Amino acid sequence: MTGFVYLTVRAMAGIKNIGILTSGGDAPGMNAAIRAVTRSAIYNKFGVKGIMRGYKGLVFNEIVDFKSQSVSNIIQLGGTILKTARCKEFTTPEGRKQAYDNMVAAGIDALVVIGGDGSLTGASIFAEEYNVPIVGLPGTIDNDLGGTDSTIGYDTALNTIMDAVDKLRDTASSHERLFFVEVMGHTAGYLALNSALATGSEAAIIPEMETEVDQLAELINHGFRKSKNSAIVIVAENPKTGGATALAERVKKEFPQYDARVTILGHIQRGGSPTAYDRILASRMGEAAIEAIMEGQRNVMIGVQNGKTVYVPFTKAVKHNKGIDRSDLDLVKILSI
Ligand code: F6P
Repeated sequence: MTGFVYLTVRAMAGIKNIGILTSGGDAPGMNAAIRAVTRSAIYNKFGVKGIMRGYKGLVFNEIVDFKSQSVSNIIQLGGTILKTARCKEFTTPEGRKQAYDNMVAAGIDALVVIGGDGSLTGASIFAEEYNVPIVGLPGTIDNDLGGTDSTIGYDTALNTIMDAVDKLRDTASSHERLFFVEVMGHTAGYLALNSALATGSEAAIIPEMETEVDQLAELINHGFRKSKNSAIVIVAENPKTGGATALAERVKKEFPQYDARVTILGHIQRGGSPTAYDRILASRMGEAAIEAIMEGQRNVMIGVQNGKTVYVPFTKAVKHNKGIDRSDLDLVKILSI
């Protein structure tokens, strides 16, 4: 689209200032996304307002003017310079009314929301209730949003897990132990499955398979028993089943011959400098968010499918876990004989 057409569309939509916020769990690459949104908006002559602490900043009126320099030297930083929060008040109609009033008072006409499933669900409700143009960017290490091959932060978290498991393998092998390594992703097994592939782990235990098979029994019967002195099993965190800790307890009871240990990687997975992949993804998506606003798109998340940037309606992005590729689960098994 030419600059002239953009200007026309923008004038029609009456959008002068774009607000940007990060919400929910932080993810490496959020800063690269903030930078891309801010600079693309300024390049296209919009004003930019940084909203602090996610939706909290809208409800409690913590909104600051952003300039191009506000986002200098942040592309390489993990976390989010805008801070993030999970905001209870925004889940109530009164909280959202307050948020809308503050947004209007600050002169914000459209929002870019960077976050995961919960954050984009909030965006979707707010957009419908107040007719606010909102474009979402998928920012979560869990990779659990529909319509995009990857979310911002997922690749970095995967690499963080890989580094940690490589180290654990040294001690697992020296002591001839069975290690259960718990990773994040309480409703989605992407981190567990793909880190298992990347580290040559003996198995991945993931929520998607939970009700179908006894994954631990399968693992013990088919794999670990045969020829290995040590093994690594990657387990997706699971508040319902107790995750890696519960599995290790079970092994200690049912198979006392194995020397089982647990490592929970926890929030280490959310930090650190983003990988090149996440920086590039965040930069492309950030710019695409501004293009989307100029095209008059609303209530869409920017996704990437087969290398192409796409618009995904919020209704197809949230609560639309892509589902795992079962052949990858088989691959973990085949390659660990
Ligand atoms: O960022 C997503 C996620 O990492 C989930 O996998 C995890 O269950 C959750 O956030 C934990 O986040 P918090 O400790 O911030 O509640």
